[in-house]
Amino acid sequence: MSAAKQGGRGAAPSPVVNIALSKGRIIEEGLPLLARAGITPSEDPARSRKLILDTNLPDVKLTIIRAADVPTYVRFGAADLGVAGKDVLMEYEGDGLYELMDLGIARCRLMVAEPAGLAARDDPKSWTRVRVATKYVNISRRHFAAKGIQTDIIKLYGSMELAPLVGLSERIVDLVSTGNTLKANGLVEVEHVADISAWLVANKAAMKMKRDAVKAVVDRIAAALG
Ligand code: ATP
Ligand code: PRP
Repeated sequence: MSAAKQGGRGAAPSPVVNIALSKGRIIEEGLPLLARAGITPSEDPARSRKLILDTNLPDVKLTIIRAADVPTYVRFGAADLGVAGKDVLMEYEGDGLYELMDLGIARCRLMVAEPAGLAARDDPKSWTRVRVATKYVNISRRHFAAKGIQTDIIKLYGSMELAPLVGLSERIVDLVSTGNTLKANGLVEVEHVADISAWLVANKAAMKMKRDAVKAVVDRIAAALG
């Protein structure tokens, strides 16, 4: 038994590093990456109702939260590291985060879209004022403001593609990957806002206070990316 375990003097035990991840795409695409980094949860996050999962490494735990909450948990140090879509990070208003590396997972693009019929006679270069439905209020405001376009933004929490179909707004700002959701709803992409993928983020204080432990996990993930 080590001196530390005996309660005697010796090296302090390694602090636990918490990694915040969201269920769904991020965890589905993130788990294979973590596995390549030598980190595997002790139970299947898709089946478990547990919100904090042990891993094969005694000093690494996974915290399972909603995608949009990852920056908040990491900012306040409730998680040391997190995996969040660039869309979520761009929309987040707080600071206190380091964006460490692009993990290249959950790739998609943030686009302005509108009904195909409208797009046939529309020219985004002629826009001076647009009404958009989106959950990306801050990103949309910034995107259009940079082009000198005024915006009326309707905040939604999901299913943005419905908005033009029911007359809520002609245009939406939403994520597109295969384009199947737009197509199924008679919409087309008309303007690119940003390319999106998931990033590894870190709490700034943890990078100092738990430097060695956090760095060990970050190095594993960086090595797994190749
Ligand atoms: P919640 O389920 O909590 O409402 P969410 O719908 O944003 O959140 P996901 O759909 O799992 O959760 O999306 C998580 C992240 O995955 C997004 O922030 C984005 O970066 C990325 N993403 C979303 N949709 C796609 C897609 N169709 N293809 C690829 N990546 C996507
Ligand atoms: C995302 C996004 C689009 C869809 C785009 O929704 O909001 O609706 O994916 O993907 P596609 O271009 O491959 O069709 P998601 O499936 O995550 O559903 P949600 O909005 O309810 O989270």
